[in-house]
Amino acid sequence: MPSGVHPEHYSLTITPDLKSATFTGEETIDVVLDAPAKSITLNAVEIKFGEVKAYVLPVAAYSYGKLGIQPKPLSPLDSDRHPQIATTMLDAKKEQASFTFSEELPVGTVTLAIRYTGVLNDKLRGFYLSKTKTRNYAVTQFEPTDARRAFPSFDEPSLKATYDIAMVVDRGDTAISNANMISDQAGPIAGKRTLRFATTPKMSSYLVAFLVGDFKCSEGKSDGVPIRVCSTPDKVGLTKFALESAKYVLHYYDTYFGIKYPMPKLDMVALPDFEAGAMENFGCITYREADLLVNQRTGSITGKKQVAVVVAHEMAHQWFGDMVTMQWWDNLWLNEGFASWMETKSVAVWHPEWNFPQDDAQELNDTLNFDATKTTRAIRATANTPDEINEMFDGIAYGKAGAVIGMVENYLGAEVFRQGVHNYLQAHLYANATAEDFWGAQTANSHLPVDKIMSSFVTQPGVPLLTFAERQAGGVPVMQSRFYLSTAESGRSLEGRMPQWTVPVCLKTNGQPICRVLGKEDSSVPLPMDIGLPVFYANAAAKGYYRTAYTPAQFSAINAKAESSLTPPERVGLVGDQWALVRSGQASVGDYLDLVLALKGDPNAAVLDTVHEELKRIDSSIASDEDRDELAAILRREFGPVYVGLGSPAKKESFDRQQLRGTLFELLGEARDPAVLAQAQRLTGRVFAGNNAKDRTLDPTLVDAAVELSAGVGDASLYDKLLAVSRNSGDPAQQTAALGLLARFRDSSLVSRTLDLIASGEIRNQDSWTMLTTLLRNRETRDQAWEYVRHHWERVQAQLTVSSGAEVVGATGSFCTVKRREEVDEFFSVHKVEAAERTLAKAVDSINDCIELRAVQEPKLHAWLKLQAK
Ligand code: BES
Ligand code: ZN
Repeated sequence: MPSGVHPEHYSLTITPDLKSATFTGEETIDVVLDAPAKSITLNAVEIKFGEVKAYVLPVAAYSYGKLGIQPKPLSPLDSDRHPQIATTMLDAKKEQASFTFSEELPVGTVTLAIRYTGVLNDKLRGFYLSKTKTRNYAVTQFEPTDARRAFPSFDEPSLKATYDIAMVVDRGDTAISNANMISDQAGPIAGKRTLRFATTPKMSSYLVAFLVGDFKCSEGKSDGVPIRVCSTPDKVGLTKFALESAKYVLHYYDTYFGIKYPMPKLDMVALPDFEAGAMENFGCITYREADLLVNQRTGSITGKKQVAVVVAHEMAHQWFGDMVTMQWWDNLWLNEGFASWMETKSVAVWHPEWNFPQDDAQELNDTLNFDATKTTRAIRATANTPDEINEMFDGIAYGKAGAVIGMVENYLGAEVFRQGVHNYLQAHLYANATAEDFWGAQTANSHLPVDKIMSSFVTQPGVPLLTFAERQAGGVPVMQSRFYLSTAESGRSLEGRMPQWTVPVCLKTNGQPICRVLGKEDSSVPLPMDIGLPVFYANAAAKGYYRTAYTPAQFSAINAKAESSLTPPERVGLVGDQWALVRSGQASVGDYLDLVLALKGDPNAAVLDTVHEELKRIDSSIASDEDRDELAAILRREFGPVYVGLGSPAKKESFDRQQLRGTLFELLGEARDPAVLAQAQRLTGRVFAGNNAKDRTLDPTLVDAAVELSAGVGDASLYDKLLAVSRNSGDPAQQTAALGLLARFRDSSLVSRTLDLIASGEIRNQDSWTMLTTLLRNRETRDQAWEYVRHHWERVQAQLTVSSGAEVVGATGSFCTVKRREEVDEFFSVHKVEAAERTLAKAVDSINDCIELRAVQEPKLHAWLKLQAK
């Protein structure tokens, strides 16, 4: 936006018509002009303007307090104050409207009064229509740049203002918004009611929300704050678990931040059509149904973990994002990195048995892989257009920023870090902040070089690789380089490309880990001679954002003691690092498989799950058809006895052991173990025989894997049963799972049915893209899916929204041939997908990496398999 004007207060009266899918708005905006102006520019998209007027108010008529809660003494719509009428000009490309007046407006406060109309769209952004079988809802999703589709606004995160919102709805309907409702009156016409909400604190436009329809809520309270969890009336029975989560988390955050939750209430609302997982609107968090609603009694632990984590993520934003907001979208990581880092923190204390530290390690491993390509970006990156801003919501802003924050916390110690967080928030309440503000606060509080560490990770792209040599007097020699998941990039000369990270390296000791900061020029990790190390493992707690390469002697020493000396997160890191070295050509797939076999008896689910993920990569990308069969035979031979050794599910088993059994079951089923496949069929039969929710003997972790395995080899009759669940289940988690399973069938006529279903429009847009990306990523179905996408693009694209379009582009990155690479590149260069430019480059990159990986490793895999067969 042009500078020189900023909004202070909005007053909105919105009247949606849910039948005709339109709405009207009456809006006043109090703006402050820094200099006299004849025109004012703001954001608006797909809005039809009626009359626009400007009232010049005596500045003294206003007396906003810090939070702007004082009522206005004068109504700006008083007609005797001689408004000026504006001429409105639209610039669709810039998403702006300009109001020009015949006389210059003076410096100071001016009130704009705007009448307009708009359309309730079906693209899940702005003010949009959400439908159930019985009725329509009108709901909002504004982040990052879609508030301008619902009301003309200064739609940038730093242009904070207060809001008075009123909704005119049908007499039988209700509305929910950011602040608490302060009045509910009949009118303005028969059959309508007008709901008014209290003035909000100063906030960014992307955090405004208003939701209209028929909601039912569960209610509770935490630290004196009323909390409601709401849904469509039929699903209110599934809101209890989220309410319990929110109560726990609110109190936890009040204490952690040392700053109380700021709004008079917290509402969390499940919406039938919702693009993201959830959205942190100030005081009014919105969710897709499957991320908020879960059966308290029969829901699986995995399902509950998911809900609790999403709730904790969005609630963290109430502080990080809502109260204190990034100055501009280039620093989106200040929002999303924080919420990602924090999303497991409170829940891990609430339910320690859910093993979040090992989930975090797995997430770190995935993120390091995501970031190890040449097309990756730095955490802070330029983003100016809506497309560029939308593309910022990626694995870097979430996963990498979250991991870097976790690394710094681990280095400083949790309490010192917490104080820094408090100081940072306290200094910017109801205002905006930058990266420098954050690491400045942490540096000042800790007197440690947080600024150097964080700026090196925030402003430079990519992953550090620490390559160690044998320990010498005083230290362990180490070399820093940039790590790539690609043999070609890694082989290139390092000259001129030496990276410059400042890294806290934490070594595993017999007691507390010791951390040493490795500066840009340092070539060794200093160590006192008398320090006792169980093994030389240089990423204690698996919190460091780097890959490691050890000497063969160091590596075999670690492997020999992995199970006894390393924690599960550290073992996850070990497996991840070793696989990464295969990808970069520094190790062979045979070395990796040796490690896999050495770890086959590992008692930890996350370790086995990490192993399993990479085995799937070998199976889907490296192995030839014959080698796939041989690999499967070896996996059956090695893991079969481990699975049998675990025995049947028992009462009172730990969650980790259940998970472990589930992972082994899946791994063996994929390796076509006849006993496991037969068991999967039996379990699947029981799931569909009568009311499975009552069948307490069904182990949920096995059931999920069983149905997935059965779907992989399933026929039309199983397909139809799952289709019926997806249509008729009253439990959104089950509906979503059933849809996901439809994409697991491999029979080509059933794949066709799924593809047609996706393109038909019957499936909600929020769900169809995950089915499509599953089909595109799977070795058995990806060719058929890709042919379909290319030949029915218009119909497919009609089902995609901004972020899901990019997801589909991203999924094509799992191809592994030159032919497909050329097709993907060419197709999406012609058929442009919104906000997917970097994603396309990344997909092409990833296909190239795979082609290379296969060329290098396929012969090695073959040789290893031959050796094993003997
Ligand atoms: N602020 C985001 C929602 C969002 C995402 C808005 C992308 C606009 C574009 C929200 O806080 C978020 O991160 N949601 C996640 C879920 C979370 C638990 C990781 C999501 O929607 O996936
Ligand atoms: Zn978020």
